[in-house]
Amino acid sequence: MPQSVEKTFFIETFGCQMNVHDSEKVIGTLIGEGYRQVQSVEEAGLILYNTCSIRDKAEQKVFHRLNDFKKFQKQGKRFGVLGCVAQQEGEKIFERAPYVSLVAGSASYRNLPQMLAQLEAGNSRVTGLDDRQTDETFETEFTARSNPHRGYITIIEGCDKFCSYCIVPYTRGKERSRTSDSVLAEARRMADAGYSEIQLLGQNVNSYMDSSGKKSFAGLLAAVGEVPGIRRVRFTTSHPRDFTRDIVEAIDSVPALCDHVHLPVQSGSSRTLKAMMRLYTREEYLERISWIKAARRPISITTDIIVGFPGETNSDFEETITLLDEVGYDGVFAFKYSPRPHTPAINMIDSIVDEEKSKRLAIVLDRQREIQRVSYSKHVGSIVEVMVEGKNEARGQWIGRTSQNKTLNFTAAAESSPAAGSYHPIKVTGSFPNSLVGELVA
Ligand code: SAH
Ligand code: SF4
Ligand code: F3S
Repeated sequence: MPQSVEKTFFIETFGCQMNVHDSEKVIGTLIGEGYRQVQSVEEAGLILYNTCSIRDKAEQKVFHRLNDFKKFQKQGKRFGVLGCVAQQEGEKIFERAPYVSLVAGSASYRNLPQMLAQLEAGNSRVTGLDDRQTDETFETEFTARSNPHRGYITIIEGCDKFCSYCIVPYTRGKERSRTSDSVLAEARRMADAGYSEIQLLGQNVNSYMDSSGKKSFAGLLAAVGEVPGIRRVRFTTSHPRDFTRDIVEAIDSVPALCDHVHLPVQSGSSRTLKAMMRLYTREEYLERISWIKAARRPISITTDIIVGFPGETNSDFEETITLLDEVGYDGVFAFKYSPRPHTPAINMIDSIVDEEKSKRLAIVLDRQREIQRVSYSKHVGSIVEVMVEGKNEARGQWIGRTSQNKTLNFTAAAESSPAAGSYHPIKVTGSFPNSLVGELVA
């Protein structure tokens, strides 16, 4: 009997939303090449890891995973490493894990069909590592989106900012934007397919420069918000340096643009920001915050913070805490500084011991929890619209998300069963530091 020639693959994704969406496009490409996706390593002929190297822990996870699955190499399975660890470590991965036969960074994904053909021809050292200077973006005929109501569109790839601690410019390559026509065509196709929420993605989404020169970022944002059928538009991540007033004006004038801006500050100390090469001061950052706060609708603001950057003194750190109070964020992602290869900060003395970093991290999280406990409670008594995400059967509650990107768990009368992807007004009856509770308004 001839062996089955069916081509199957399993993919696991680590890292940020760009990686999640890249995987959706990689899956679409593989399906286009005649592969079938399976849900376990056991069933798969080709096993792919789409990896992240933003912090050391994320990177270690990948090598642990590869070790776990070493046993499968005898069964003739092939392994591929994609994403940021692949680009960062390159061919060294073949030495560390000899059973890997594909190593490719995100700037090479548009060449995946050729790389797959090489794998199929028996090449056990296939690479896609030389494309970081490309001007091209990864666009697919078919994208295997995992959610039928809300989906991502990458509008800009790569990063040219080179913050001193960050690996991304080295892994994702130079900044390159799509044309606004191509983005809008994708948004229209999604609306036709029943999507009502779009999230525009980029490492610095607001550094977008229409490669056809037609639209500014704010112009594109407004145009996506005006696509018939699209009820919600989000965008992430915005870089403070390129955050312009017209973004707030677009939110003011286009109802579909969500009431939320994620604006990573990293530190409240201008001295630390300078060492981080963030290209703005505390005061310039706060000016952007004042524009957002002056919007017609209340806009929630979230951020990212790094504690324990080399040379961060107690008083620098104290400035981060006072910034939390001053802005009153609706959410904070905080991380301990992790030295990354290739970055300028790796040559600075990582002066703050891990114990102190942990202490600072805990102080940030405690302070922020208190800020959110108060700010979330202010929603109690109001009526807000949610998009339904699903149901928590155990608790008999539906899970919704507000335009401000807050989770709202709600109850509804027995006869009404709000479907995932539908929109409903909810009366907020209670709050926690990270979520709201409420009842569906009949
Ligand atoms: N482009 C976005 C962030 C991308 S990375 C921006 O400029 O804001 C996501 C977050 O990871 C960053 O905002 C930062 O807070 C964190 N991060 C990046 N490099 C890090 C490092 N070396 N150590 C700890 N946290 C890091
Ligand atoms: Fe990294 Fe800075 Fe680029 Fe963000 S802007 S991806 S933190 S280098
Ligand atoms: Fe990680 Fe690469 Fe995203 S390092 S955070 S997967 S850009």
